[in-house]
Amino acid sequence: MNTKPDILHKKCLHIYIMSTRGKISKCDDFNTPAEAWELIMKHIDLAGKKVWLPFFNDGDIKFEHSEIIHQDKDFFTYEPDEYDYIIDNPPFSIKQQVLERCVSLKKPFALLLPIETLERKYFKLLVKDQDFTMIIPNKRYNFVGGSNKKNVMFKSCFYCFGFGFDKQLIFED
Ligand SMILES: C[S@@+](CC[C@H](N)C(=O)[O-])C[C@H]1O[C@@H](n2cnc3c(N)ncnc32)[C@H](O)[C@@H]1O
Repeated sequence: MNTKPDILHKKCLHIYIMSTRGKISKCDDFNTPAEAWELIMKHIDLAGKKVWLPFFNDGDIKFEHSEIIHQDKDFFTYEPDEYDYIIDNPPFSIKQQVLERCVSLKKPFALLLPIETLERKYFKLLVKDQDFTMIIPNKRYNFVGGSNKKNVMFKSCFYCFGFGFDKQLIFED
């Protein structure tokens, strides 16, 4: 169900998304690099699983998996009928709302979020009594696209809920 638009339509689609979702922060609109997807796939077995990637920009997902749901629909009002996991890189400016909705959907989820999310007061409350593991990459990811020419100043990690890992912290080998 991957709805990849062809390259000629990407720009129009992007403008359309901007106008239907209101103003998006510049820092929210980058694509996830392939190495981040590779890391999460090393730790979560996706065989036979339907994965929902709800956060849509130009549809250019460097994520190879046979059953991906990735459509231009509002994450806060839409939920696919059937899926097993949510995995994505959400807009960082609304990370609290995204985390809260993910918890409320009661499916395992893994979100790529800045490492500082861990120190937020809301995160401490939200993670209480949850099955939570953080996967920490070796490097800072430089996100792809927009005007992003500089090195990113912070590390982003996978915040994983409900996957039953036996450790709370996993460092990339
Ligand atoms: C950091 S980008 C990641 C895009 C893509 N999922 C990836 O990993 O390459 C987050 C995207 O979420 C989209 N977005 C913002 N609010 C959204 C919402 N309510 N529902 C779905 N997508 C949204 C924005 O268009 C933004 O480009």
